[in-house]
Amino acid sequence: MRTPLAVLPNLLGTAGNHPTTEEPAWPSGVADDHTPLEFSVALDNTIPPALRLLGETIGDKPSAVNNARAFERVLRSAARDFDISTERYDQVRDLFLPEDSSAEFLLWYSTVFRAGHLPALKVYFNPAAHGEENAGELVAEALSRLGLNDAYRDLREHALLRGEADRCVFFAVDLHDRPHARVKVYVAHANARSGDAIRAAAAVSGIDPGQLAEFCAIAGGTDAFAGRPLVSSYTYVSPDTHRPSGYSLYLPIRDYVSDDEEARQRVLQLLAWAGFDPVLLDRAIDALTDRPLAEGVGLIAHVSLRLGIPRPGMTVYLSSEAYAVSRPRRLSPVQ
Ligand code: TRP
Repeated sequence: MRTPLAVLPNLLGTAGNHPTTEEPAWPSGVADDHTPLEFSVALDNTIPPALRLLGETIGDKPSAVNNARAFERVLRSAARDFDISTERYDQVRDLFLPEDSSAEFLLWYSTVFRAGHLPALKVYFNPAAHGEENAGELVAEALSRLGLNDAYRDLREHALLRGEADRCVFFAVDLHDRPHARVKVYVAHANARSGDAIRAAAAVSGIDPGQLAEFCAIAGGTDAFAGRPLVSSYTYVSPDTHRPSGYSLYLPIRDYVSDDEEARQRVLQLLAWAGFDPVLLDRAIDALTDRPLAEGVGLIAHVSLRLGIPRPGMTVYLSSEAYAVSRPRRLSPVQ
């Protein structure tokens, strides 16, 4: 019998059989060592944790266009076998999937596994599919096709305030049509401070700015995020088509620590702060690696804080390090 897990080898594409002792066949941006896969554990106050995989399907002749085509083939056959609806995907796919593109990727996916639930699938399009300069227009058009007519104006007023420093980096849709199917827009804030995230979060009502400031301070150990950028995401859940219902902040913790032991200590502190069982972190790390944490950096890649609807919580992103481990570094003094 086919189980939902049976789709995973297909989702990996040709990367599934590629030896990890060789160079990766495609420099996927999903993870720093170009493994086209990243794990994450999403923690919620009310339901059991979810294990998620973010990935890029790698095609026979890897390129952004061919990888997207390979993913689509998997998707069409999975849609027949599993509880997947491609309705939203089909409404916008032509915008984001040109025949030819110099973008770094065109399609990524994530799978969500949660005990007692059917796995869910989400796809990420690249707003820069037709070049960085057209990203805003593409996102505006995609939102309006999905009935979110005012959403882009709202995004411009809250999240895209600093010229080229604020950029739309992902456009994601859930591939199911149950209630709470989401559309998400992700905005990267180059060289930001927690205040920039707080301003961006004000697009969603009822967000506590203090929580975001504390999260940034604990996770980042600084208030100047000059390395990999802070990223905001906005979640649109029907029937609320005017304003986003949820806001998440992603912090690429690996750029703000010297090694993974320091990252682990910060995440343990965050888990305690948010009221989660800290044991979960070590269980997840132990499942992935037995290397001494101080001997590398980037195993713990990001942490995110989710606020508002559908559910508040925290997510920890973990690399597989299938191809390489990044060396720990000495941090220059923080200003
Ligand atoms: N590796 C990329 C980055 O760090 C993309 C990515 C993977 C990402 N997981 C993420 C971006 C979580 C934001 C949040 O930018």
